Amino acid sequence: MAALGDINGKSVVDATFGAGGYSQAFLSAGATVTAFDRDSNVVGDARVLSDKFGSRFEFVPRPFSHIAELQNTYDAIVFDLGISSMQIDVASRGFSFRFDGPLDMRMSDNGITASELIINTPVEQLAKILRDYGDIKNATRLARIIHDAAPQTTFELKSLIHDSRDVAPVFQALRIAVNDELGELERALDAVPKRLNPGGKCICVTFHSTEDRIVKNTFRKWTSVSGDPRLPDTNSAPFTLIKTMRPDDAETQHNPRARSAHMRGVIKSY
Ligand SMILES: C[S@@+](CC[C@H](N)C(=O)[O-])C[C@H]1O[C@@H](n2cnc3c(N)ncnc32)[C@H](O)[C@@H]1O
Repeated sequence: MAALGDINGKSVVDATFGAGGYSQAFLSAGATVTAFDRDSNVVGDARVLSDKFGSRFEFVPRPFSHIAELQNTYDAIVFDLGISSMQIDVASRGFSFRFDGPLDMRMSDNGITASELIINTPVEQLAKILRDYGDIKNATRLARIIHDAAPQTTFELKSLIHDSRDVAPVFQALRIAVNDELGELERALDAVPKRLNPGGKCICVTFHSTEDRIVKNTFRKWTSVSGDPRLPDTNSAPFTLIKTMRPDDAETQHNPRARSAHMRGVIKSY
C-alpha cells in the first residue's frame, strides 16, 4: 500500500486480515504485523503467515474494536472494510443474493443471523436499517413484507424484493446490521489515536457511503485544532490528512468491487 511509504522495520496493525493479502505485503516489506479478523475461517491463512514470518506476525482472532485493548503503540493501523470475496462467494455464508443459502450473513460464529434479525426486529426498526444502511426509499413497506414473510434463505429474501435495484442494497443493509459494522468501526476508530506513534498513519478503505461518512467525519475532527475532546488540546491539529484516493480505471477493471472504494488516511502529528 503506497500510502504507508517505507514500512521496513515498522509496526503495522492490519485490522481486517481477510485472505491476508495486505498482511503478506506488509510483512514482505519488512514490517512487523498484528492482524485482526473475526472470521474463524481465516485462521488457516493466518497460520501460513505465522509459519513463514515467525514472531514478526501475530494474529488476533477478534473483532477489530479490540484494538482498544492493545498495549503497544504502532506506526500504522489499516482498515480494509467490508466483506471478503471468500465470504461473499460461499453460498452457506448467506451474504450473496447470487447463490441460494441460509440467510446467515455473520462474519463470525457469534451473534444472530440475518433471518433471526428479521424476525426479532420490529418493522419500524427494520425499516430504519433498510433506509439508513441501504438507502431504500419505500423502506417501511418493504420492511413489513420482509418481516411478515420471515425468509430463511437468500433466495426467499430476494424473491420478496420486487424492484431489482433494491436487492443489493437490502442485502448490504442487513449485513451491516447483523455484524454491527458501524458500531465496530466507531469503537475501533475511537481507540486509534492512543495506539499510534507520532508520525503514525491510520488508513481506511471504505466501500459504502455510511461507513465512509464515519471515517471522513472522524478524520475531520482529528485534523481540526480542538475538534475532538479526547485528543490533547494544542495550537496545531493532532493529525494531518493524507489525500483521499479513488481506484483508477485499470484497478476497477481488474477488481470491480473497488468501484465504490475510497481510501482515506491521516498522519499523527505528535
Ligand atoms: C475486505 S476483507 C479484507 C481483505 C484483506 N485486506 C486482504 O488483503 O485479503 C475484510 C475482512 O475484514 C473482516 N472484518 C470486517 N469487520 C471486522 C471487524 N469488525 N473485526 C474483525 N474483522 C472484521 C472480515 O471478516 C473480512 O475477512
